[in-house]
Amino acid sequence: MARNIIILGAQWGDEGKGKIVDLLTQKVSAVVRFQGGHNAGHTLVIDDDKIILRLIPSGILHDNVRCFIGNGVVLSPSALLEEMDELEARGVPVKKRLRISYASSLLLPYHVALDKARELARGSDAIGTTGRGIGPAYEDKVARRGLRASDLLDANTLAEKLEPLAEYHNFMLQNYYGVESLSFKKVFDDLMQVGEKIKPLLTDVVMDLKQLQDDNKNILFEGAQGALLDIDHGTYPFVTSSNTTAGAASTGSGFGPLYFDYVLGIIKAYTTRVGSGPFPTELHDAFGKRMAERGNEFGSVTKRPRRCGWFDAVAMQRVVQINSISGLCITKLDVLDGFETVKICVAYENGVPTYEELPGWSESTYGVKEISGLPVNAQNYLARLSELLEIPVDIVSTGPDRNETIILNDLFG
Ligand code: IMP
Repeated sequence: MARNIIILGAQWGDEGKGKIVDLLTQKVSAVVRFQGGHNAGHTLVIDDDKIILRLIPSGILHDNVRCFIGNGVVLSPSALLEEMDELEARGVPVKKRLRISYASSLLLPYHVALDKARELARGSDAIGTTGRGIGPAYEDKVARRGLRASDLLDANTLAEKLEPLAEYHNFMLQNYYGVESLSFKKVFDDLMQVGEKIKPLLTDVVMDLKQLQDDNKNILFEGAQGALLDIDHGTYPFVTSSNTTAGAASTGSGFGPLYFDYVLGIIKAYTTRVGSGPFPTELHDAFGKRMAERGNEFGSVTKRPRRCGWFDAVAMQRVVQINSISGLCITKLDVLDGFETVKICVAYENGVPTYEELPGWSESTYGVKEISGLPVNAQNYLARLSELLEIPVDIVSTGPDRNETIILNDLFG
């Protein structure tokens, strides 16, 4: 029986999804992105070579694997082209492997300008967005005035739809935010040029996925960002503008909800967050600094330093429920190597985290490939997380490379 698996970040993003998607891609025929845009930064390390993917699914490096960008994604044609060129220059046949939904929403330069202008206007209340135009692009989609990838197919239709949109956004930019407007002609010409290269990749993702399903093929659905950044269930308003939770895998790709078999939640052994917003277990001391340094916690897209803190089991219990997470992949365990004790937030009292303290481990867990190779206290830490969340640990990632991984459960049976 084929297995269709959703992979999600269970925290505030940056849990290390890219590596795991790439690893599991060895067993699937297709990888699908279903939400977000080029705000994502999925880092893959293969033979010491680092590749950062933003829009293109993390399965793209594999031969015989089809990659799809679903209708739920906001697609910046220029960002896509840049990423395609980068990969093609490394010899990855992107045009052969990648297909894009006709119904994906276009993210245009107006959205980027608006995102930046809004953040500036919010001042100290800024969300800390990636500045990629994600929010404004989703706003246009929901307001039913947005452009879709299918609009690239015909120049006249594109011009007809783009012109009033450009007028509307330029009015906002100039008169509300007092910043420069963008030339319609330039945006249109650029879009036409880039559009020519994207057109051949457009497809009806719904029917392509149905065909794969009929052929009994395994499919992976690759989430971007993390559950706590979900527009409905996250730390609103300090969230991204899409649903990052499991339900979006269905709505953002057109693959019906009952066709999924497993939801893998990726969590770091601790917690990080970039941008503003609540983070109750955040550390402002030497421990937090050490996590940031050892974990190299800088945004892969924006290079901003990430905030660090202890594992929040209370928040994660809720995330497990919202996403029906079946099992866990725990990443970056080695960052906690050498801590005398490690803490897990197990309750809140009047909004203040209460911690359970476990003995740490002094040995290195970096690159360990068998669970028995982990120090006993590290094993106990993982077991306690599993117990608190009431789901199994399926995978432990002990380093950035594909083979620095402990597999406890073969998700494809
Ligand atoms: P936006 O998605 O650019 O609108 O940013 C909204 C919030 O989501 C900000 O706090 C960003 O830092 C955060 N965010 C967006 N994408 C990612 C990601 O891939 N990893 C981590 N945080 C992200």
